[in-house]
Amino acid sequence: MSNSPAAEATSSRLGIAAQAARRRTFAIISHPDAGKTTLTENLLLAGGAIRAAGQVRARGENRRTRSDWMKIERERGISVSASVMTFDHDGLMFNLLDTPGHEDFSEDTYRTLTAADAAVMVLDAAKGIEPQTLKLFEVCRLRDIPIVTFINKMDREAQDPFELLDEIGSKLALDPAPLYWPAGSGGRFKGMLDLRRDQFLPFMKKGGGAAGNEDGHPGPIAFRGNAVVSYLDPDEQEELSENAELVLGASKPFDAQSFLEGHMTPVFFGSALRHFGVDQLLEGIGAYAPPPKPVAAVKSGLAMHVAPGDREVSGFVFKVQANMDPNHRDRIAFLKLCSGRFSRGMKLKVQNTGKQLSVNAPMMFFASDRELAEDAFAGDVIGIPNHGVLRVGDSLSESGLLRFAGLPNFAPEILQRVRVKDPLKAKHLKKALESLAEEGVTQLFRPSLGSDFIVGAVGQLQFEVMADRLANEYQLEVIFEPSPYGEARWILGEKADLEDFTSKHRSAIGTDIDDQPVYLAKSSWDIGYATERYPKVRFERSKERA
Ligand code: G4P
Repeated sequence: MSNSPAAEATSSRLGIAAQAARRRTFAIISHPDAGKTTLTENLLLAGGAIRAAGQVRARGENRRTRSDWMKIERERGISVSASVMTFDHDGLMFNLLDTPGHEDFSEDTYRTLTAADAAVMVLDAAKGIEPQTLKLFEVCRLRDIPIVTFINKMDREAQDPFELLDEIGSKLALDPAPLYWPAGSGGRFKGMLDLRRDQFLPFMKKGGGAAGNEDGHPGPIAFRGNAVVSYLDPDEQEELSENAELVLGASKPFDAQSFLEGHMTPVFFGSALRHFGVDQLLEGIGAYAPPPKPVAAVKSGLAMHVAPGDREVSGFVFKVQANMDPNHRDRIAFLKLCSGRFSRGMKLKVQNTGKQLSVNAPMMFFASDRELAEDAFAGDVIGIPNHGVLRVGDSLSESGLLRFAGLPNFAPEILQRVRVKDPLKAKHLKKALESLAEEGVTQLFRPSLGSDFIVGAVGQLQFEVMADRLANEYQLEVIFEPSPYGEARWILGEKADLEDFTSKHRSAIGTDIDDQPVYLAKSSWDIGYATERYPKVRFERSKERA
């Protein structure tokens, strides 16, 4: 066989595509307390990335004490360090993206989902779908991200699993396709039936535990065989058998295409805390979650798709972590790779500024001890230390010619008026607010009447981050005050329809940082009302940035 440059090019191209094809980049979405942290740890355990549960938090603590985190982060004990954790398992590379929740819920949480190729939706079996799950789910739907469902805490009293499936169907308009079926819950939780293999997986009350050791639960056994009687009494066996028949008859069989198109979700059951059902979930993610897809882009004015196997290295910044070290104004930009084989030391260009960066010290985030990687492929996330050169939504590539669609903005849920304590600095404030809005820290709106600045965010923490940065980087002391607005929607439609709406709602119209019109409503009720009254106007919850 000759080693012609063409043949070498082909083999290297195949290598890149094959590497990308073994990536599974996913995020976990859930309502606080459903068990996201516990599941994260146990997935890392199942993937062999850590040896005992409890390490994730411990590592976070270490890192906080080692580096000089932003003051408010330290005060509030928020871990923003590990935005992604990578582990190699079963021939696949898993990248688990962290979606900050709780009080550190912010636009970053939404943006992280734009870097995910799939999401695991964790439901508390006793509570079903909760408000934050729904919000995050909507973002996934907007981005066509396929969802895998994990019904957690089966070791506690749970709702009837049939009702949980109904809720998924009715609230999310998703077809649930259970792959397992639980035998009881809480004190009577005995395990689950693998519906595809007709095998029973026994749950041991004393198995698993916080240290998370799957060895504590016996392996699968034939459901129709004799061995199952040591775990299920005849009534339980009959009930499980009937339920399995019922659920298989009532639900559509799992269809990979329908899942990838966002119409169906495979449903897993388990207990993250007791490390039960977690191996099966990880296996399911490996088997069904998609590798990175081709991404729509523009190159030299032409619309095209960047395929993961393309030679040119490219990616987009979905998150910027500022002030990791306030003395150096260091920032870490998190880049989701879309194509090529990235290697350390490579030069990449920023599309909109044309600036070139030598990426000599990329950060890769292995959950195990191995911290440094020499190369990365589509689906992977690398952290690029920089001094404010990189911004959220930036496209990077070797040629500098590729531009991916900008990251969307999401309708803020908290809108506050901002004032600077020293009135002489009002002009200075405008510049600073615009620059933070461009960076994606918060959103900025100008009502068409009056001279207020309205700052919008999806989480309270964003205001604190903003106040902190205004004080430290711009020497501006600001005060946030309640605003009369509760909701914001981008308004789109024909010019005449828009004018009709805006002329009748002058006091509730504003513009965003790109001068696009926004409806600043008092409440979601007003939005519902306006949507009904003005069917030709679209009230959008998100805006794709050019
Ligand atoms: P979150 O990140 O989604 O907010 O949830 P997290 O994992 O912190 O879990 C929330 C609580 O639920 C924790 O209890 C955790 O131990 C518990 N939990 C998670 N998964 C399971 C499960 O499968 N079964 C049971 N029974 N409990 C589960 P906590 O008491 O609030 O915290 P901790 O003191 O245990 O850390």
